[in-house]
Amino acid sequence: MMLQRIVPVTFREEIAENVFVLRFECNEIVCSASPGQFVNIRCGDACLPLLRRPFSISRVLGDEVELLFNVVGQGTRMLAGKRVGDSLDVLGPLGLPFNFGADFKTGLIVAGGVGVAPFPFLTSVLRKKGKRIVTFLGARTASQLAPTHLDDIHLATDDGTKGYHGTVVDLLRSYLDQHRVESPRLFGCGPTNMLKALTNVAQEMNIECELSLEGDMACGIGLCQGCPVERTKGERKYALVCVEGPTFNSKDILIP
Ligand SMILES: Cc1cc2nc3c(=O)[nH]c(=O)nc-3n(C[C@H](O)[C@H](O)[C@H](O)COP(=O)(O)OP(=O)(O)OC[C@H]3O[C@@H](n4cnc5c(N)ncnc54)[C@H](O)[C@@H]3O)c2cc1C
Ligand code: FES
Repeated sequence: MMLQRIVPVTFREEIAENVFVLRFECNEIVCSASPGQFVNIRCGDACLPLLRRPFSISRVLGDEVELLFNVVGQGTRMLAGKRVGDSLDVLGPLGLPFNFGADFKTGLIVAGGVGVAPFPFLTSVLRKKGKRIVTFLGARTASQLAPTHLDDIHLATDDGTKGYHGTVVDLLRSYLDQHRVESPRLFGCGPTNMLKALTNVAQEMNIECELSLEGDMACGIGLCQGCPVERTKGERKYALVCVEGPTFNSKDILIP
């Protein structure tokens, strides 16, 4: 069920370099949201930016929805400037959730940068289902890591300032080389190159893998055709990320 609501901001903090957490109160979204879904937010009060901006639902706490985001442009700068008590125009929950009900014992969560956003929510649901969770979190440098509300965290940084020196997918590879993981399923979110590398690992090691895509989006509700991703099979060449994703099995799509 999708809702449009004007909701109050209840919390805002910069938790890592250029990484913000923002919460708003909306019991109706809390009640209907699942991990992997997102909200589409009108970031400014005036006309600009014109389009809403999509953000994964990072956590739900009581009546509050938590977002975690990087400031990259005008919309996210405006969102980071919100104060407790300000109003937000929110549309959601949107998109399809991760397939967390699938048959697996260990969830291997792999996140690059703020690609970590959907995983605290997924972690809380997998915990309740009694799954084992191992988390791999990478960033360019230590100050950009946001390892909050996750389980069994393994860190990687491109510059070696914290954890494994290299990419988060290389860290995953070395973990899988050294550990026997019982009935695994991969969940990934992050930059395109990371998702490509993760898809390769999933293919080589024959592990089911779900990706959350965070590319450009406009309407968020299937109207503008502005979020295509190429499919590997089926009659239609493209799927719409906003309504058929943002979560996909890595076997079903071609990462551009
Ligand atoms: C389903 C979905 C969920 C998302 N969840 C999150 C989230 O939880 N946290 C978060 O930080 N971001 C998330 N994003 C990305 C977020 O929506 C964009 O960062 C945001 O729309 C940028 O808006 P802006 O106005 O600040 O930047 P713009 O002015 O639109 O862009 C500024 C610059 O950033 C680049 N840019 C814009 N979007 C992206 C992107 N997705 N990836 C890489 N570069 C980009 C542009 O090309 C441009 O160079 C999500 C995207 C999708 C589709
Ligand atoms: S963003 Fe408009 S159709 Fe997907």
